Amino acid sequence: MMSGTKKRIKIVAAFAMLMVALLYLYKTLVTVNEPAVIPSRFGSSVVRIEEQRPWPPTENVDQRNLRINFEMQNSLLQAQRLELQTQQLELQRTKDQLAKLEEQVRSLQASTPRKYLKVKYLNYKNRKRILITGGAGFVGSHLVDDLMIQGHEVIVVDNFFTGRKRNVEHWLGHENFELIHHDIVNPLFIEVDEIYHLASPASPPHYMYNPVKTIKTNTMGTINVLGLAKRVMAKVLIASTSEVYGDPTVHPQPETYWGHVNPIGPRACYDEGKRVSETLSYAYAKQEKVQVRVARIFNTYGPRMHMNDGRVVSNFILQALRNETITVYGNGQQTRSFQYVSDLVDGLISLMASNYSQPVNLGNPQEQTIEEFAKIIKRLVGGHSKLQQTKAMEDDPQRRKPDITRAKNWLNWEPKVPLETGLQQTIAYFRNELMRSDRYQESSNKYFESPDLQRSLGRQLLDTTGGA
Ligand SMILES: NC(=O)c1ccc[n+]([C@@H]2O[C@H](COP(=O)([O-])OP(=O)(O)OC[C@H]3O[C@@H](n4cnc5c(N)ncnc54)[C@H](O)[C@@H]3O)[C@@H](O)[C@H]2O)c1
Repeated sequence: MMSGTKKRIKIVAAFAMLMVALLYLYKTLVTVNEPAVIPSRFGSSVVRIEEQRPWPPTENVDQRNLRINFEMQNSLLQAQRLELQTQQLELQRTKDQLAKLEEQVRSLQASTPRKYLKVKYLNYKNRKRILITGGAGFVGSHLVDDLMIQGHEVIVVDNFFTGRKRNVEHWLGHENFELIHHDIVNPLFIEVDEIYHLASPASPPHYMYNPVKTIKTNTMGTINVLGLAKRVMAKVLIASTSEVYGDPTVHPQPETYWGHVNPIGPRACYDEGKRVSETLSYAYAKQEKVQVRVARIFNTYGPRMHMNDGRVVSNFILQALRNETITVYGNGQQTRSFQYVSDLVDGLISLMASNYSQPVNLGNPQEQTIEEFAKIIKRLVGGHSKLQQTKAMEDDPQRRKPDITRAKNWLNWEPKVPLETGLQQTIAYFRNELMRSDRYQESSNKYFESPDLQRSLGRQLLDTTGGA
């Protein structure tokens, strides 16, 4: 009996010891399983989360780890929020400083008087408000100069397709001058006394680039200009072209010649566009009593003409300045006559002032073969370029020479600037532009080759490729 009781006591004691051992083991395991640490925001040290664990445990190991993870993420988020707020504050401070600096620059600009060419003072009665569409282009910008110097108020409207702000920048800020970025295919509502409508690409590569737009500019654009002239009773001068004569069968070309134009050739968008432009002008004159003037402009050259417009003057001068081969399309026996831009501008202003409403040729009747012309340019530029003939252009007119009897009789106008004088001015301009673009190229090369930029580009490359 006694030995049975002892045996039971021993079994209970052994069971109790086993339970204690199991509990100890469980506690040890829980402590080993939990890496309750979070990385510090300011460095690589870690912070251990000290936890008061209730006893006996109310959650299992997974639940506990999840909760601790959640708390870690939460504190990280708080830290990031704080950092973001600090950065936002810094950004605001920088913006305020920038605004202050901009204000200082503006007031400095306002207090520094700009130097303009001297303009004549005209009283209210004689001063006109003159709109020039395409006024930032080659011809337009020279017209702006003359009208500004005469003392008129000039408004330029341009979409900068081929024109440049640089052509008129010397007038920006002048009280008599305004520059409006506008496409003349859309209507325009302003009050003016006179309109010179020059907006249209003028060289083959430019007008062939988007033939539909060229036709729109010369039809819808002209309708908008004539509509404006009708509404405000302004006099309007349309810049037409010798291209309305096409490849002429009459030589030289008088205004009475109706022309020889291929209506579906590559040049038709421009030639026919200008012919419609003339037709529209006389329709508005007849039906709406708009006072119109039509100038048929022949080849014109001078400073500010486009360097890369693919036309004879610019091609030859650039090739000669770069000592490249001077390329002559066809056999070089086709003729052209070139007028200097200041002569054209005089003619346009005289035509506007006149009472003559029929088309008037404005061009230089001094005729040259293209080959002769290339030789003159080669001589004036110097260098060692050679002449070479290449394939003739499609629909390239063979002869071009204006009959300027009308301009002489009605406007008392004829070109004054000799070819060589005009060419020297133009060559000087092109030389300057080339040096300018070389300088620009050089400075951008310097920039791209600078060690600082290379370093920062290298850094960016490492960032994007994730390299070390
Ligand atoms: N330069 C010549 O030898 C010559 C010969 C005959 C006729 N013309 C005529 O004289 C005018 C001026 O010629 P340019 O040599 O000064 O050409 P250009 O290309 O230098 O100037 C034309 C101007 O019109 C602007 N323009 C074009 N489309 C426009 C649009 N839809 N809306 C507003 N602006 C627009 C251009 O941005 C540019 O400033 C043109 O109408 C051209 O047809 C010129």
